Amino acid sequence: MSRRSWPATTWMAERDRHAAPAGIATPVDAAAMRRTIGRFATGVAVVTTHDGQGPHGMTVNSLTSVSLDPPLLLVCLTTGARTTDAVVTSGRFAVNVLSDRQLEIALRFARRGADHFEGLAPAYGAHRVPVVPDALAHLECTAERHFEAGDHVVVIGRVHGVCDRAGEPLAFLGGRFADLTERGGEPALWFA
Ligand SMILES: Cc1cc2nc3c(=O)[nH]c(=O)nc-3n(C[C@H](O)[C@H](O)[C@H](O)COP(=O)(O)O)c2cc1C
Repeated sequence: MSRRSWPATTWMAERDRHAAPAGIATPVDAAAMRRTIGRFATGVAVVTTHDGQGPHGMTVNSLTSVSLDPPLLLVCLTTGARTTDAVVTSGRFAVNVLSDRQLEIALRFARRGADHFEGLAPAYGAHRVPVVPDALAHLECTAERHFEAGDHVVVIGRVHGVCDRAGEPLAFLGGRFADLTERGGEPALWFA
């Protein structure tokens, strides 16, 4: 299988189009950081947990797979958010990967200060954490470790149980929700 190589001229043209003029630094304020990292397309998930008082949850797109053996993932949660505190306190959480039919759920769990579970009867997973029904996938975790990084808490979760179902994912790109179109073809080599 041959590696696809970009013609040098295309690469140069792309680079010049996005580069700042020589000598002018591009300031990295919060808006620039959000806009630029927003070019990286992600899925959308809801982190759910229970702190002994009640269920909590928040919409996230900072989900990353960390390790297969042992199975680890990470999420970055705003410092001081209720779900962040509840995850740290309880040491348990679930990641619910949303389908393209769950835009309402994504919006509900992103509303600042709202009772995200209001009017919902939470379902519970095998590891006693609340889960979002009909999500594309559930990963039930314990918080292996956490640490503050800037204005977020990075939580490394050890995955104890997973399930997934057929369906299309909800995507997020450039600050907007999006649909994902598969290109077909062979699965990536490392996905075997
Ligand atoms: C698509 C999307 C992705 C988000 N990703 C994250 C994230 O990765 N981490 C985070 O802390 N907040 C993220 N947020 C914002 C939180 O969902 C939102 O601030 C939170 O639900 C508010 O909860 P609170 O009322 O407990 O503060 C995201 C919001 C949206 C719409």
